[in-house]
Amino acid sequence: MTATLSLDLADEAATGDLGRRLATLSRPGDVILLSGNLGAGKSTLARAFVQALTSEDEEVPSPTFTLVQVYEAEAGDIWHFDLYRLDKPDDAFELGIEDAFHGGISVIEWPDRLGGLTPRRRLEVALSAGASEGSRRATLSSHDQWDDRLKDLAP
Ligand SMILES: Nc1ncnc2c1ncn2[C@@H]1O[C@H](COP(=O)(O)OP(=O)(O)O)[C@@H](O)[C@H]1O
Ligand SMILES: [Mg+2]
Repeated sequence: MTATLSLDLADEAATGDLGRRLATLSRPGDVILLSGNLGAGKSTLARAFVQALTSEDEEVPSPTFTLVQVYEAEAGDIWHFDLYRLDKPDDAFELGIEDAFHGGISVIEWPDRLGGLTPRRRLEVALSAGASEGSRRATLSSHDQWDDRLKDLAP
């Protein structure tokens, strides 16, 4: 099943709020794909997501060069990927993507790099520029995962 939801994010704080709300609703096995151009707010959302499940003080660097950063949380391990520099989908195995998908909570920037390894069950979050300066639009679409939880995110 697929469901969609569009949200206006007025400012950076609103993007963080969405990250925190997603975190609160997340479960082991979830795969959250964050797409959008450079500067769209993917890492901002991911940082708030991780901090909500670890600590406000948790350092959440963008895994631009390491490609993945894993955080231990009570809810399970959180795997934050930035696949911009992934040369080919198969290289994701070396990053532990199978462990992430089974039992971890995965938050993935530049998920298009996964190609055929994109999991069937996933939540897609697409970020784009909003109507006003500093605003963003988030379009969420669930795919056999999160269908029932999207309504909890509606304003
Ligand atoms: N509504 C907003 N949501 C998220 N970031 C915003 C917003 N408005 C302005 N920004 C700025 O845009 C940039 C987003 O950067 P980042 O989260 O690293 O993007 P990405 O990971 O998509 O490349 C930051 O400099 C942030 O301060
Ligand atoms: Mg980023």
